[in-house]
Order: sequence, then C-alpha cells, then structure tokens
Amino acid sequence: MYYPEETIEEVRERNDIVDVISGYVKLQKKGSNYFGLCPFHNEKSPSFSVSPQKQMYYCFGCGAGGNVITFVMEYENYSFQEALKMLADRAGVKLPEAEYSKEERDRADKRSALLEVNKLAANYFYYQLRQPQGKAGYEYFRRRELTEETIRRFGLGYANKTSDDLYRYLKSKGYQDGLLKESGLVTLEERGSYDKFWNRVMFPIMDPNSRVIGFGGRVMGDGEPKYLNSPETLIFDKGRNLYGLNYARTSREKSLLVCEGYMDVIAMHQAGFTNAVASLGTALTSRHAALLKRYTEQVILTYDSDGAGVKAALRAIPILREAGVSARVLDLRPYKDPDEFIKNKGKDEFKKRVDGARNSFLFEIDVLRRDYQTEDPEQKTRFIHAAAGKLLVFEEAMERDSYIQAVAREQMLPYEDLRRLVNRLGNMPQTGQAARGRQGADGRDREKKEKDDGNRRAQRLLLTWLIEQPQLFAKVRDIIGEEDFVEPLYRRVAEMVFDGLRRGDVNPAEILNHFINDEEEYKEVAALFHARLEEALGNEEQKKAFPDIVYRVKKNSLDYASRNASDIGELQRIIREQAGLRKLLATID
Ligand code: UTP
Ligand code: MN
Repeated sequence: MYYPEETIEEVRERNDIVDVISGYVKLQKKGSNYFGLCPFHNEKSPSFSVSPQKQMYYCFGCGAGGNVITFVMEYENYSFQEALKMLADRAGVKLPEAEYSKEERDRADKRSALLEVNKLAANYFYYQLRQPQGKAGYEYFRRRELTEETIRRFGLGYANKTSDDLYRYLKSKGYQDGLLKESGLVTLEERGSYDKFWNRVMFPIMDPNSRVIGFGGRVMGDGEPKYLNSPETLIFDKGRNLYGLNYARTSREKSLLVCEGYMDVIAMHQAGFTNAVASLGTALTSRHAALLKRYTEQVILTYDSDGAGVKAALRAIPILREAGVSARVLDLRPYKDPDEFIKNKGKDEFKKRVDGARNSFLFEIDVLRRDYQTEDPEQKTRFIHAAAGKLLVFEEAMERDSYIQAVAREQMLPYEDLRRLVNRLGNMPQTGQAARGRQGADGRDREKKEKDDGNRRAQRLLLTWLIEQPQLFAKVRDIIGEEDFVEPLYRRVAEMVFDGLRRGDVNPAEILNHFINDEEEYKEVAALFHARLEEALGNEEQKKAFPDIVYRVKKNSLDYASRNASDIGELQRIIREQAGLRKLLATID
C-alpha cells in the first residue's frame, strides 16, 4: 500500500459515495438506498444500489460492488493511486508524499513515464502524416476512404522511412535509453538504436480512458509482417485491452461488435457503428470475455468470412458462453471483412446484417453440417447424432427444447425423433471402466463440494446478517466468535466485523479497503456486505433460519477443531461442546 491507512480513510470519508456516483449514474432514492442503471453491465431496469449508510455500492445484476474508491477505479479504469488522487483532489484533501518503497516508486514512475513516451510518439506520428515525408501514409488512408475526421478521431499517423528519427526525437525530450527500450518503440543494438516502426501507417492503441498504451503499424505495400504491434510492456497488456473500446464503451448500444482488425474497427465506426472493438493481434481470451462482460451482455462476432475467421468464431463462442456473454455471428458473405462489406454495400445493408446476426449455437450447427455430405443417409445419421450431442450443452429443459425445435426446423428433421435422440444421449449411462471410475469420483467430489458449499454459505450468510442487523449480535455473542469462521477469507472479515460489533460500530467501507489488492477477494467481500436478493429473507423466514445457520457454523467449526485436535483433553472438551450445542441454541429465540 502506498499511503498510510488514515489517509486512505480520510479521502474515502470526505467523498460521499452518493455524491460521487451521482456524477456518473442517475440515481433514485428508494427507501434508505439509491438505485440506478448499472454502469458495469447493460441493463434496462435498475439493479445497481448505493447505500449511504454503508457508503458502498452493489449491483444485484452483475455482482459489481465496492466503496467509493473502487467505483472510480472500475469506472475510470484507474489504478488505486490514480483513483485516490482524483478523489483527494475532488475533496480538497492534500495527499502526503506517498510512502513508496523504492520498487513501488520506480514502478509508478516508470508507468507514467511510459505513458508520456507513448503519447509523445503518437503526436510525432500524427504530425509526420501531414508532412511531405508522410505523403505515402496520408494517401494510403485516403485510398481506404477514411475521412479527415476519422483520421483525427483515431489519432492515425505515419512512421517514416528514416530508421531512427523517433528515437532521436524522444532522446531530445530527455528520456533515457533504458526506458525507451522498455517502451518497445526502440531497439538498442551495438551499432546504434533503431525505431521499431518505420515506413508504416500507425494506429495508436488506447486504453478505455483514451491513454495511448501501444501501437499497431501497417506496412506500406506488401512487406512482412503486414501488421507489427508493440510488444507487451508495463502499460500494455494485450489481454486486458480491446482496440476501439475507449469509444465503444460510451456508444450506449445494447451489444458490442467484435472484429479482427484495426481497419475493420475504424471502418465500422466511420459508418456509425461506434460499438465495434477488436482484440489486438491475438485470439479472443477469457480475459477479453470478462472485459466485454463489463460493458455488455451481448457480443456480435464480425470476424472475416474466410476459414480462419470461422475458426476464430468457433473458438470464441464457448469462451463467451462460459463468461456469460451471449454471442451472435454476423454473416459477411460474399465479402471478406466488415471494411470490405461496408465499402461495397453501405451502412444500411450492414445494419441489416447486424440485426440478422445468427444465434451462435445455430451457427455452430451450420458449420458442423459442412463436415457431412448429408445427401448420403449414413453421413446424415452421423450428422444428426453429432448435432444431438451438441444440444446436450443446454441443461435447462425449456431452453434445450427450444433449440431442439429450431434445429429440427432448420435441418428438416422430425422434431419428435430428434428430441428422443437427445434425451436418450443425455440419459445414456456411460459405459466402460474409465467412464465408471470417473463417474464415481465425480459423485463423491460433488457430494463433498455440496457440503462445503453449504458450510461456506452458512458462514457467509451469518456474516452478512450480522453486518446488516448488528442487533443480532447480542443473541449470539456467547456462542459464536470470529474463530468459528473456518473459511480463511471469511475469518479475516469476521475478525474485523466482530471487532466492530463489540465496539458498536461496524464500518463496511473501511473493512473493504483491506482487500483492495486482490480483485477476487475484494469482490467476494463486497458481496458479503450486500445481502443478495435471495438471501435477504423476510423477517419471519429469517427468524426461523437464524438458529439453524448459527448451528451450522458452530457445528462445522467444532467438527473442524475435532479433526485437528492435538490431545485427548482438547478432544473431550470439543465433544462436550458439541453435545451442549443444541441446548445452547434453544436460548436464541
Ligand atoms: P487482416 O490481415 O485481416 O487485416 O488481419 P486487415 O485489417 O484486413 O488488413 P488490411 O485491410 O489488409 O490492412 C486482421 C488483424 O490481425 C492482426 C492485426 O490486428 C490485423 O488488424 N495482424 C494481422 C497482425 O497482428 N499481424 C499481421 O501480420 C497480420
Ligand atoms: Mn481485413
């Protein structure tokens, strides 16, 4: 942590969360909380809540949650330091000289120096494009029908044929060789230093806040490689960024268009489809999918229509499905890519293709069919079996049935037969030694996992209830303590919560700060402070459930202790406690 805890607390306290979030999201008061449309996923009815008492926000739709500092981090894609600085400025808190360790300071300094270098380089390329030596680049863009406005909006530029002019320019600004090398814009060799990019038109890559973090450069003519990209650096993480997202995130469309390349993104934006993005010279990963999910629930894949594009789509679909993003696939045929399509058919035709984009499962079936000559009865049978097998991915009965209907209709198969086949495959006991072994182990694992989940859930629920209704503490303070929370993460939270309960002052937003360095933990703890809808039971129900939950947590804790007891005396004590547990619980009304 860079700043003393008191400072962070002061900044947090001086920025009322309702005030700050109101600057970004339209909020409406309902009861003691405020509600609005969640800025972290797309939705039509408000499930994003802000609690002035707790000074926290939570989205019941996507699970985003936190305090005022993390809101700014998430929304602006800022680091912790950047968010803290913004909020300190906002509230007029003067930050002390940060308590950097040497490594931390070096890293933070380097990060901002790399951002500066990239920004200077982008300006330099942009300037070159309009000089006599940049004529080739400028003409290239105009030949590809980019308007002056588009060139400006995307900050396009040109790296000219001189092999070290950018290097000399950046040196003249006082940057050291080591840093320039780390920026990836320059290679240092014994004979001299060279620019990585030359004789290329340049596409600055921006993060969601429009800060330049790297470049793509397209060669003039037919050289190899066609596109050269900045290497990953301290500020450029290809898996965490999508080209065009800085604009697409504000487009307010209900879906995002995902394509392959720079020119496709730009062509789509120029035609008014400002919700287009591309992954950066890499296949779509689950990290991209998670990033997309922050902005949308639906992705329309607009990959090239060639074999490579279809393959890329088939790879992306399950990744998106896994991340909970629904996908559709746009058919560009007979054109190769969005850029070519729009040039030839115009934006209205493209819009029709967007609206008619194919459900991704049905697209998978279309592609599957291409592997079989379905005029041949034997091959047709094999195709039907393969399709039926794929239909098993839908576990929910109604959903599965809709897809069975759609596939039957489209592939002209009798619905009843297909349905029976799918269900038979679904119920088929697995045969063979290996399969049996696997199933047995699965079954046992599942049982154990369910029990673990039950215990975790009880601990979570009890913590949530104690935070929401501190008056419950009086009923259990003689029975349950922080040491009864066996789950390590809940234990750490419990220590702080019980501390607060004993003092009569639980401060969720402050507690949350302790988990800021680990995203996963942070999310889980934030969720603890917000009873999920299904867990926010009515008064009567909770009254009934409360003793059971307390029992479960205590019992699990005692079981755990007895498994780890080191001597017989301890064990006997635990057994006595276990025996008295029911009676003790009867004292809770
Ligand atoms: P394409 O070759 O389809 O690019 O590669 P394009 O946009 O159609 O190129 P133009 O129209 O000929 O200029 C798609 C994307 O794959 C990455 C780039 O991000 C490119 O935009 N790529 C391609 C590379 O990173 N390196 C390459 O050598 C080629
Ligand atoms: Mn292309």
